[in-house]
Amino acid sequence: MTILLLLVTVTLIFLVYTFYQRIRFKLPPGPRPWPIVGNLYDVKPVRFRCYAEWAQQYGPIISVWFGSTLNVVVSNNELAKEVLKEKDKHLADRHRSRSAAKFSRDGQDLIWADYGAHYVKVRKVCMLELFTPKRLEALRPIREDEVMAMVELIFNDSTHPDKIGKSLVMRSYLGAVAFNNITRLAFGKRFMTNEGVIDEQGKEFKAIVANGVKLGASLSMAEHIPWLRWFFPLEEDAFAKHGERRDRLTRAIMEEHNAARLKTGGAKQHFIDALLTLQNQYNLSDDNVIGLLWDMITAGMDTSAVSVEWAMAELIKNPRVQQKAQEELDSVIGSERVLTELDFPNLPYLRCIAKEALRLHPPTPLMLPHKASANVKVGGYDIPKGSNVHVNVWALARDPATWKNPLEFRPERFLEEDVDMKGHDYRLLPFGAGRRVCPGAKLGINLMTSMLGHLLHHFSWAPANGLSPEEIDLSENPGLVTYMQTPLQAVATPRLPSMMYKRMAVDM
Ligand code: HEM
Repeated sequence: MTILLLLVTVTLIFLVYTFYQRIRFKLPPGPRPWPIVGNLYDVKPVRFRCYAEWAQQYGPIISVWFGSTLNVVVSNNELAKEVLKEKDKHLADRHRSRSAAKFSRDGQDLIWADYGAHYVKVRKVCMLELFTPKRLEALRPIREDEVMAMVELIFNDSTHPDKIGKSLVMRSYLGAVAFNNITRLAFGKRFMTNEGVIDEQGKEFKAIVANGVKLGASLSMAEHIPWLRWFFPLEEDAFAKHGERRDRLTRAIMEEHNAARLKTGGAKQHFIDALLTLQNQYNLSDDNVIGLLWDMITAGMDTSAVSVEWAMAELIKNPRVQQKAQEELDSVIGSERVLTELDFPNLPYLRCIAKEALRLHPPTPLMLPHKASANVKVGGYDIPKGSNVHVNVWALARDPATWKNPLEFRPERFLEEDVDMKGHDYRLLPFGAGRRVCPGAKLGINLMTSMLGHLLHHFSWAPANGLSPEEIDLSENPGLVTYMQTPLQAVATPRLPSMMYKRMAVDM
């Protein structure tokens, strides 16, 4: 009886609230919301595809209701510019899911902070201290070491007598580069031995990341309907325990770095050392430092590896592009040395391949959710304060109004017209644009280009046994970061002399 009464009351509140929003504001069109749940049951799992379909039906700016929260999604370059440039100031807060709110202690980090004094301070730390060209260059040996570790492993696996001609699951090799690169860059630690064995701290680290993904993906109704949370106290407990576990591990590593600095008197280039030595200058609390370090893990680990997996799928589907890239690599690098990032300016086709892959398969197709800090007008419609705003960068980059043959994987399009992808051209926004544009864009592009360059220079790639290139499945998994639904499998054949596959481990 009480539950029934509660449901009736909540339905009435919802109806009054949405009716009030509709008469007070001119909201963008969209599918009709149901009481209480809004459009939660209408949205298909791969959201950016569903929103793109709705945009065909209702226009380039749509309303989607998650419970009583309004989400506005824009899907063309003019509206993207309005959101990310002209109205950016009032659309730069973040929507924090329950897990994001817990992990970030309500936005004490960068990713989940609302736009304000704290955000401006930590963003400044990132731009002036962490992602400077000097530091990125100083950390280059780590990236190159990890990419060579991948090459060596693929060589060993593909030439092993039992495995010759067998397909490899690309994700495991690409994921290891991303994991080791980010833990070394952020924490100054390679948790994995050269033989691939993970130490105790590394196991704990991996378990925390996996648990974070699990909690973050819990799409329970309580996420969107706050009063339902009373019925799920255990979930709240799980979030709190996760935070404690993460802090314990991070503090232990921070202590190790503090002790090492006291001993040697000098700081290293890793983000953890940079942040610990700058803590007083920028008035950063321990929570801020922990939050920033985990931001780098969350935002920087999967994105590059996922992008390379998509790019490799397209390269195997398009042998013409693969061959042309290999011809470029052979003529610029030859077969007596390996690629370094310093070669990039001389490898325009390789760079276009990375860009074309990010156009067709941006790893975060809806970017990260922005939130309105004031009532704003976009495209002539009202966006009330507190609404979430998403830019469907996947749809922008496939819009036939701005791209010729948008579904074709053709890197040459960027030789013909040099389109910026770091937030200046609103047709192509894999890293977002404006105040919240990805600070790790250069790092991500370098790592991705380096992985692709090495994979193509060292090996020829063919589909898994029995598959034709056309049969490679390019469908997406649901989620904030878009993985391939069917992990890519491919056969690698070495194409350089065998001594070119040896990694010279770098200790830094
Ligand atoms: C291919 C690789 C990558 C892609 C496509 C990518 C894309 C993005 C996108 C779309 C956003 C959201 C922008 C917005 O909300 O408007 C973002 C934010 C962010 N990214 Fe990246 N990213 C990549 C790699 C990296 C790396 C390697 C790092 C760091 C190690 C990084 C750190 C961040 C951070 C900290 C934010 C939050 C910025 C803020 O809220 O102010 N990303 N990224």
